[in-house]
Amino acid sequence: MIHNRDGFVFGLFISLILLIHLNEGQSQESDLTQTIISMPGDDVVLPCHVDPPQDLSQFTVEWGRPDLKPRFVHVWHNQKEYLADQNKVFKGRTSLFNDKLKDGNFSLKLSDVRHSDNGRYRCYNPKEKTEYFIQLLVGE
Ligand SMILES: *[C@@H]1O[C@H](CO)[C@@H](O)[C@H](O)[C@H]1NC(C)=O
Repeated sequence: MIHNRDGFVFGLFISLILLIHLNEGQSQESDLTQTIISMPGDDVVLPCHVDPPQDLSQFTVEWGRPDLKPRFVHVWHNQKEYLADQNKVFKGRTSLFNDKLKDGNFSLKLSDVRHSDNGRYRCYNPKEKTEYFIQLLVGE
């Protein structure tokens, strides 16, 4: 489910900009993609957690849609939300369970789901070098 990825070892002090550049275009298929089904107008939780549990609040973690530009759905950086590069279609509709980050739970809440939210979401943790994919299917 969670793939270790080759490449760069990301330190604690790497800037988000550098992270974005290194990561660009390095997509990797995951064998197991969890599928979440929802209806327009629903609020959904896209699950993502690290096992064994680790305190993620200190690290950068990224939710993205690799097929969109910009791909950012929700980013946690420098111990807070970093939404400056968030894709506009998600504006005001995403949140994390901030009190759960310390338990390694990076699940994303997406509110007021739309048809355009149909797609493949990536939860990426550069410290652990893991990525995890969730397919969101929005019904009729
Ligand atoms: C993570 O938190 C969400 C929101 O509270 C919860 O629904 C989910 O079950 C949690 N996941 C794990 C693995 O604990």
